[in-house]
Amino acid sequence: MGFSIRGTGLRAVLLALGCAAAFQAAAQNAYPTRAITLVVPFAAGGPTDVVARTLGASMSKTLGQPIVVENRTGAGGTLAASYVAKAAPDGYTFLIHHNGMATAPALYRKLAYNPLTDFAYVGQVADVPMTLLGRKDLQPADLPAFISYAKAQGNKLNLANAGLGAVSQLCGMLLQESLGTQFTTVPYSGTAPALTALLGGQVDVLCDQTTQTIPHIQADKVRLYGVTTLDRIKALPDAPTLNEKGLKGFEIKVWHGVYGPKDTPPEVVARFNEALRAALKDPSFTNRMAELGAEIVPADKQTPQGLQTWLKSEIDKWGPMIRKAGVYAD
Ligand code: MLT
Repeated sequence: MGFSIRGTGLRAVLLALGCAAAFQAAAQNAYPTRAITLVVPFAAGGPTDVVARTLGASMSKTLGQPIVVENRTGAGGTLAASYVAKAAPDGYTFLIHHNGMATAPALYRKLAYNPLTDFAYVGQVADVPMTLLGRKDLQPADLPAFISYAKAQGNKLNLANAGLGAVSQLCGMLLQESLGTQFTTVPYSGTAPALTALLGGQVDVLCDQTTQTIPHIQADKVRLYGVTTLDRIKALPDAPTLNEKGLKGFEIKVWHGVYGPKDTPPEVVARFNEALRAALKDPSFTNRMAELGAEIVPADKQTPQGLQTWLKSEIDKWGPMIRKAGVYAD
């Protein structure tokens, strides 16, 4: 027995379907109708937070609604990522995260999400160099002196970081491996409190992003030993690279991606991405990022596909290295 609708019945159904489609389109066009939460996995005032708040302020100009930053710290950024993976996919909760999105699968044996399947990808934002800092009164005055001192001191030196999965931890891990020594590591909920500890002299060394460290370097509150990019950077032209001063090939750049929960509607992702791309051209965002040493990513990385492809390549790059180093949390 077949099913058919004829005459006025058919018109009524088509009208109803038309209304539903029109209603759905109107709802999507209206997005967003209220404030959007942008989750930051580390402490307020730190480098990720600085990027998130500056970006959010610019994106809200396009979206016509505020973007409210929420700091959900813990477990090197994995608690925040897990929270967003499980949030309602309605376009009102997003995550900004860095390299930690790619290193977590190797670092955490029991990860509550899969970075490659549990998210909607919005786009990348900016790349940020890191700086190797010592407390202001740490004995070595420059990088070559620091290298010899660090090798001799070993675990008498305290190295601050933002936990397993943080880029400060990744940088510290590579540094110890390059020096062939082990420091005593002291974890914090972000590099904002880690830097406060360095400024207060409670820890000796910190590897942290220029988006937080440049104002403290300019104010001469810390010892700057070098930057972690292969070439010197415009924002700190006198700072040597670790690569040029004996740690050949040493390189870490911090990249940032924006993610929503997996089933966020494509139209909503497209609208959020449009606001992201507008922010990446907005002088209020780009000028501040340039002052803080950050570089806006090229257009092909500002897309959902650009982020997803990059994330996969970073997982493939760091996973084997981390597994070989045998660093992980149960
Ligand atoms: C932060 O915002 O505190 C940092 O991105 C933490 C880190 O990854 O080192």
